[in-house]
Amino acid sequence: HEADAYRTDLMTITRFVLNEQSKYPESRGDFSILLSHIVLGCKFVCTAVNKAGLAKLIGLAGETNVQGEEQKKLDVLSNEVFVKALVSSGRTCILVSEEDEEATFVEHSKRGRYCVVFDPLDGSSNIDCGVSIGTIFGIYMVKDDHDPTLDDVLQPGKHMLAAGYCMYGSSCTLVLSTGEGVNGFTLDPSLGEFILTHPDIKIPKKGKIYSVNEGNAKNWDAPTAKYVEKCKFPKDGSSPKSLRYIGSMVADVHRTLLYGGIFLYPADKKSPNGKLRVLYEVFPMSFLMEQAGGQAFTGKQRALELIPEKIHERSPIFLGSYDDVEEIKALYAAEV
Ligand code: AHG
Ligand code: MN
Ligand code: MN
Ligand code: MN
Repeated sequence: HEADAYRTDLMTITRFVLNEQSKYPESRGDFSILLSHIVLGCKFVCTAVNKAGLAKLIGLAGETNVQGEEQKKLDVLSNEVFVKALVSSGRTCILVSEEDEEATFVEHSKRGRYCVVFDPLDGSSNIDCGVSIGTIFGIYMVKDDHDPTLDDVLQPGKHMLAAGYCMYGSSCTLVLSTGEGVNGFTLDPSLGEFILTHPDIKIPKKGKIYSVNEGNAKNWDAPTAKYVEKCKFPKDGSSPKSLRYIGSMVADVHRTLLYGGIFLYPADKKSPNGKLRVLYEVFPMSFLMEQAGGQAFTGKQRALELIPEKIHERSPIFLGSYDDVEEIKALYAAEV
């Protein structure tokens, strides 16, 4: 469904969201303004990522973040760009970023009603080798107009108003849901606009690909080990699944959304809560998967039902095609 370069009816992401938001008479355009600032951040990171190799932006920034990870220059730069863009939108009151230990409470004069949780640069281990990386974000409405507190972001994922990611790959693709399905937009550099290229994305009901870091197999629990074994040595005579693992959640999830299949980041003996962070990795991707007709499971419950207690809390996650996730849910249910 390639956008015709000379089509005159250009559906930009801004126009698309304005159309969607016009269904809410009470909305005063605030969400559209917030989104336009997120889009600005994505455009900036896209150019920075494309120039990183030339601008010597790659390599370690020398500091480590709350996750104890070496912060690469692009991690730091992207975080600053998104924090500044979101604060300047005048529509946010709390920001949670993977790169900041504490939440950012926006000063009164610039405060709005939205809380944004985000991973400014996802897949940073892939920066130096030019493999696709991305940005992930989720948006909550503040619970009520009292002084915002952490409770406004420690909400279950099902309360998110919107979620999305931008993938900086061979093209710059922004995938977004505001709760009415999933749509994909591709940056047209000649216009500097994200154009609708993947309307109404639906994930295939079942897939032929599984996506997991097989290097952790030694530490998996029984249900995950059994499921992966089934993928490789199916008992019902069907052909084995293919393994595709990029190591950037955004890229692995984007492929899963378009091609079908399942993405797993299980718990293991080393990390009982898995590795991925609930607020700005698990929730936004789970939200998108459900909106596209797939599902997302933590090993214990529907991922979007989880209520985080800490802003950098982690959770195991199994997400993707509806039927594939059903199979792993059955294996965990049998364990109980
Ligand atoms: P981030 O770069 O934002 O810290 O995220 C990295 C995450 C995620 O992108 C990916 O799915 C996962 O780390 C890969 O982890 P492993 O290298 O342990 O497989
Ligand atoms: Mn990180
Ligand atoms: Mn990440
Ligand atoms: Mn990150």
